[in-house]
Amino acid sequence: MALIRKDLDVHGRNMLLLLFHKHPHYVGYFDFTDDTAAQTLVDNKSLFGQAIHVIKTFGSLIEYGLKDPALFDETLKKITRLHEGRNVFGSDVLIIGDVLLSYLGQVLGTQASDLLPAAFRKLFATIAARFPVAPQ
Ligand code: HEM
Repeated sequence: MALIRKDLDVHGRNMLLLLFHKHPHYVGYFDFTDDTAAQTLVDNKSLFGQAIHVIKTFGSLIEYGLKDPALFDETLKKITRLHEGRNVFGSDVLIIGDVLLSYLGQVLGTQASDLLPAAFRKLFATIAARFPVAPQ
């Protein structure tokens, strides 16, 4: 995690860009209009700002998940509240989890632990269970 912490903002933005690359329909969920000067998503400062919040929250969940279940639970409550009314469902959380995992695999390369994928999927399944089920 030290490698990631060094450039949180850049990694956060890269992860969101990877998400949009793999699943373009998610671009429409976000509002990046705070930055009126940006020509592309890559240099959009509004995306940058949101990415920092998102990645810090991931970091907290991973940390609390390991050592403080009550805090983990509170953080999850807050996250589900933040996404209410945004059409974000458990299945979307699993998709983001997969994108994050593949990004981490790219960045960490051989430094990635063999245990990472299973631990990650478990975390994201726990988060996803707190989001609404997508309507059929
Ligand atoms: C573990 C999963 C997730 C975490 C930790 C997370 C975290 C966050 C945080 C912290 C914010 C507030 C950002 C800010 O105030 O700048 C946010 C906003 C948002 N998130 Fe998530 N998120 C997660 C999953 C998702 C998923 C699956 C989607 C669906 C595509 C999503 C879509 C959004 C949208 C649309 C916003 C509002 C952005 C805007 O104002 O334009 N999030 N998220």
